[in-house]
Amino acid sequence: MTLDVVILAAGQGTRMRSTLPKVLHRLAGKPMVRHVIETARGLDAERTHVVVGHGAEKVREALADCEVRFALQAEQKGTGHAVAQALEGLGDGKVLVLYGDVPLTRRETLATLLEGVDDDHLGLLTVTLEDPTGYGRILRNAAGEAVAIVEHKDASETERAVRECNTGIMAMTAAQLRRWLPRLSADNAQGEYYLTDIIAMAAAEGVKIATVQPANALEVEGVNNRLQMARLERAYQRAQAERLMTEGVALLDPARIDVRGTLTCGHDVEIDVGCVFEGDVELGEGVRIGPHCVIRDSHIGAEAVVEAHSVIEGAVAAGRNRIGPFARLRPGTRLAVGAKVGNFVETKNVEVGEGSKINHLSYVGDARLGRDVNVGAGTITCNYDGANKHRTEIGDDAFIGSNSALVAPVSVGRGATVGAGSTISKDVADNALAVSRGRQISKPDWPRPGKQDD
Ligand code: UD1
Ligand code: CA
Repeated sequence: MTLDVVILAAGQGTRMRSTLPKVLHRLAGKPMVRHVIETARGLDAERTHVVVGHGAEKVREALADCEVRFALQAEQKGTGHAVAQALEGLGDGKVLVLYGDVPLTRRETLATLLEGVDDDHLGLLTVTLEDPTGYGRILRNAAGEAVAIVEHKDASETERAVRECNTGIMAMTAAQLRRWLPRLSADNAQGEYYLTDIIAMAAAEGVKIATVQPANALEVEGVNNRLQMARLERAYQRAQAERLMTEGVALLDPARIDVRGTLTCGHDVEIDVGCVFEGDVELGEGVRIGPHCVIRDSHIGAEAVVEAHSVIEGAVAAGRNRIGPFARLRPGTRLAVGAKVGNFVETKNVEVGEGSKINHLSYVGDARLGRDVNVGAGTITCNYDGANKHRTEIGDDAFIGSNSALVAPVSVGRGATVGAGSTISKDVADNALAVSRGRQISKPDWPRPGKQDD
């Protein structure tokens, strides 16, 4: 049977106290609803439908690159009404209802739920809570079969004593939904079309309710305010940290790492405290990351060391590199094996050859450095003339003296030397020395001016 996933994301999220629609608030750097969309993709859903309402335009925009269909719920008349908005676009197989503000449900849990669904069975994810206040309660008959859900606001005292709760996540066939949704009524405490009322309809038809529980209650936890958001974020990060440690990564403090994307590590990687990893980051075997580094969409090769407070984005380091402390590697930085980038150095769109060094206080952009080049402290590639970017080429074994400005387009040949403090605007030939600075003058016994009397 095919699978349609319907993600409800029309609610306002008043308690977030934000102009951003709730489902766009970020968990691990990604809008919550994207986590849910990815879960749907993990289940090989034929189609994923997102029901939007509050902030519909913003949600559509934020998901423009996702393969999803949008259904508009112009007015929020309840969860049953919300699912009904997607009804037209459903196939003939199974339907799974998820929520844009419940981001951490595991694929495995949902797969189990879906396995139990057929023409005679509906799947319902339930959770038993210490404090069930506010949740819909699962009502069971004498035989222990689930037969109805009663919302907290509609429940009697006895019903409120039930601690088994509706998570809201359920699965059924599209045919069942087509049969039941049009029969919902809003005759209840909240005047809403409750999706939960289909449970009693199913039971009345002899369709069995197959209940499934998640391995962990966090899987079904929704976000209504920023406190819950932060709690889920910590839980998510804890799980990432545990996964990394299980895979052989040494985390100096598993409570002080944030992974906002995918971090893949070789053996014996060591990560100090306070690091943030974003997008796709790969760390090769034996890489060591110092404290408080931010690394985004980069590959750091084996045995490289990244010292404290380095910020690395869109870079590739081939291995055995030494980076930082306080280095900033910007997109397009390619370090060959053993290349070094030291403190207060910014690089961008640059290839640095094997064993070359840019150790202190430099900006090197739009450039190619050969092997064993030494770039002295304070060297700047002047790559921008106010309108266009130009390239700097530096040959193998070249030596750039400290505080030099290389005015691109320009090239420094192999084995060439640039004297300290030079402004180089013409190409330097292989093995040549180029110096361009005022000659020093010295006046012996020169009397320094004294204060004038007035
Ligand atoms: C719902 C369930 C309740 C369950 C609880 C779990 C119903 C009637 N009740 O209650 O049994 O225990 O979730 O958290 O289903 N939404 C829309 N359009 C609407 C209404 C809601 O998109 O018209 C979305 C909301 O954005 C939210 C989700 O559906 O993501 C749940 O809606 P909410 O109003 O929070 O339902 P609850 O009252 O919490
Ligand atoms: Ca809710």
